[in-house]
Amino acid sequence: SQILIPQDPSLPPLVFYWIPFFGSAASYGEEPLTFFFKCREKYGDVFTFVLMGRRMTVALGPKGNNFILGGRLTQVSAEEAYTHLTTPVFGKGVAYDVPNHVLMEQKRFVKVGLTIEHFRAYVAMIDKEVGDYFDSSRFFPTYQTGSTTEWGKFNAFRALSELTILTASRTLQGEEVRNGLDASFAQYYHDLDGGFTPLNFMFPNLPLPSYWRRDRAHKAMSDFYINVIQKRKEQGGSEAGYDMIESLMNQTYKDGRALYDYEVAHIMIALLMAGQHTSSATTSWALLHATARPDIMEKMWEEQVKLFGQPDGTLRPMTFEDMKEMPVLDSVIRETLRMHPPIHSIIRKVIAPMDVPGSLAAPSKDRSYQIPKGHFLLASPAVAQIDPKIWKNADTWEPGRWNDTDGVAAEEYKKYVDSEGDKVDYGFGLVSKGTESQYLPFGAGRHRCIGEQFAYVQVGTIIASFVRRIEMKIEGRVPDHNYRTMITLPKEPCNIMYRRRQAPSA
Ligand code: HEM
Repeated sequence: SQILIPQDPSLPPLVFYWIPFFGSAASYGEEPLTFFFKCREKYGDVFTFVLMGRRMTVALGPKGNNFILGGRLTQVSAEEAYTHLTTPVFGKGVAYDVPNHVLMEQKRFVKVGLTIEHFRAYVAMIDKEVGDYFDSSRFFPTYQTGSTTEWGKFNAFRALSELTILTASRTLQGEEVRNGLDASFAQYYHDLDGGFTPLNFMFPNLPLPSYWRRDRAHKAMSDFYINVIQKRKEQGGSEAGYDMIESLMNQTYKDGRALYDYEVAHIMIALLMAGQHTSSATTSWALLHATARPDIMEKMWEEQVKLFGQPDGTLRPMTFEDMKEMPVLDSVIRETLRMHPPIHSIIRKVIAPMDVPGSLAAPSKDRSYQIPKGHFLLASPAVAQIDPKIWKNADTWEPGRWNDTDGVAAEEYKKYVDSEGDKVDYGFGLVSKGTESQYLPFGAGRHRCIGEQFAYVQVGTIIASFVRRIEMKIEGRVPDHNYRTMITLPKEPCNIMYRRRQAPSA
């Protein structure tokens, strides 16, 4: 039986809760998607729940995504939703510590450093980093013996986290960061990451050791980058060639001002944090699923042999151009992002009242709601991505659906390709207008991800490099989700068994 809480009928329905202030924190925190599906059943696509004193209004489905992610700048604010979490980690003067138009300029600066010319160089660098890792990592002792008969095992998330930061620093972050990873930088990263949790999101400042470590690590890491920038200025550039630091140092704001050193430093920290767990989680989930499906593993291997196989049985090196010729690998990543988008909740703050269109506020289409200023908005594209009303066998990981010639996946893919022609410029380049979609793992609208292509290069090359070097099978089953972290990770244990392949890469 449900107890009704009297409330203004112009407000969206309020999810029932027992404990004031705490609200629905337990059900949302443990299993956000189950919570959203249950609420949708009772209240429709738009509802409000209480989370630690905050009023969170959720809008689900493609229309809900559009309502929030396509929201007007005068009504929705990302910086008011995120700054207390991100500014202590990234630092002052960047991302959500500045007005939106400055963030848009900063995104444009980053885009300049994320060009195809750079990606061309990255594929070989990432593959080499994976090869070096196999030769030296504690997770791959049986690989290192050269045995092609003995099986070993590695912890998927831990190994792929290490590889993600190694490959991001070899490519985007630059030589100094890559070298620093073997020393002090790794510890700063670890402590800073400890400040990027749901607890920090809820309570920005608590007298806890992890908060103190976060602040100390931010200062140390910021100084590290500033030092790199100043040294490069003295030497007249980087010896290692072109990377993101170099690119940012050469940019200017519209008013003609170059970036301050601390802005470059803080953008670099923001990029490190934005790309680390998102990419490592995606690669981990992809390998965990693929190793549970020997047929897909086999297809990925066949794809490698077909494309790269040499008469002597070795595989030639991969190039950026080759990445577009691997439909199996591509569908594995696409399907993994459908079932496991790393960001399950995208949040904004309402800064001016917003009317919810009747067509969105189901089930009572005749009623319209108004969301008051001060509420938070929560979009969860993840819900539409696994909605059984939309996708056939929604909770089955089936990469093949992306190669079907009909069905939802094909339709979504087509929409995505078509939307290339329907773009809007938020200041950092043209962005597809398609906020009303059932597949949005990289978000949409002005805050859309600019790391998508880099992530595909990084995640794709790492997976291909694994497939080329080792045979794999899962130990046990595909793990459940761990929602206690900011990014949706696989729960432990998440081990994969491996054996060195007979035919090595060239
Ligand atoms: C924004 C997902 C990798 C940089 C976003 C958003 C999502 C997302 C959903 C929208 C957030 C919002 O609207 O509040 C992902 C996924 C990734 C990934 C699934 C990997 C599989 C990366 C990488 C980088 C990056 C590698 C950097 C190189 C950014 C930036 C934004 C963003 C700068 C813009 C934030 C804003 O405008 O407010 N990402 N991301 N991401 N991401 Fe990514």
